[in-house]
Amino acid sequence: MAEQLTDDVKNILGLQLPTDPRWVNLAEMQLEDILTDHAYCEQKAATTCITLITKNSEKERVVEELSPIVTEEWGHFRMVLAELNKRGLKLGRQRKDIYVNKLIAFQKRDGGPDERFLDQMLIMALIEARSCERFKRLSEGLTDDYMRKFYRRFMESEAGHYTLFINLAEHYLDKKVVRKRWAEWRAYEVDLMKTEEIRGDRIH
Ligand SMILES: [Fe+2]
Ligand SMILES: [Fe+2]
Repeated sequence: MAEQLTDDVKNILGLQLPTDPRWVNLAEMQLEDILTDHAYCEQKAATTCITLITKNSEKERVVEELSPIVTEEWGHFRMVLAELNKRGLKLGRQRKDIYVNKLIAFQKRDGGPDERFLDQMLIMALIEARSCERFKRLSEGLTDDYMRKFYRRFMESEAGHYTLFINLAEHYLDKKVVRKRWAEWRAYEVDLMKTEEIRGDRIH
């Protein structure tokens, strides 16, 4: 493929278990469901960033760097909503997010504030990374040229977010500690991906 990928995107592609290639074909057949699920992914990203700001209000860099992300994610939500409207579709109800719920189950609840902060950053990094990877699959695998371009923009944007969350963790905590826990998160997510059924109506 001749297209240039940013370093952020390249980072992600080197570190994750690739999505089953059949997923994009399933997604293409259920694009309306994908759009609804995608809209809620963006809504949750915006909402979670607001929560992270309020939970970590003493961490200046978190406040400064996540504030514009809230706006960006909400902008993404609006872009997906506009795409639904264009097709005469309504937002509809949110579905149960099995992937995110299983990730939340891995977060440490009994640790100290540093451990909790670390997991808050890493779960976000992981969701951004996997979303970016899925958007890349859509940007390459969909037959509609317009939709391929639509998803390419999301791919670039979420790759930058992945890096941002890792950098925030490394700013406040020992890099070795961050890397060790990141390896645990990645291993957990790989197991999750292997055991989860492939569904064409979900981003993850
Ligand atoms: Fe987003
Ligand atoms: Fe994002």
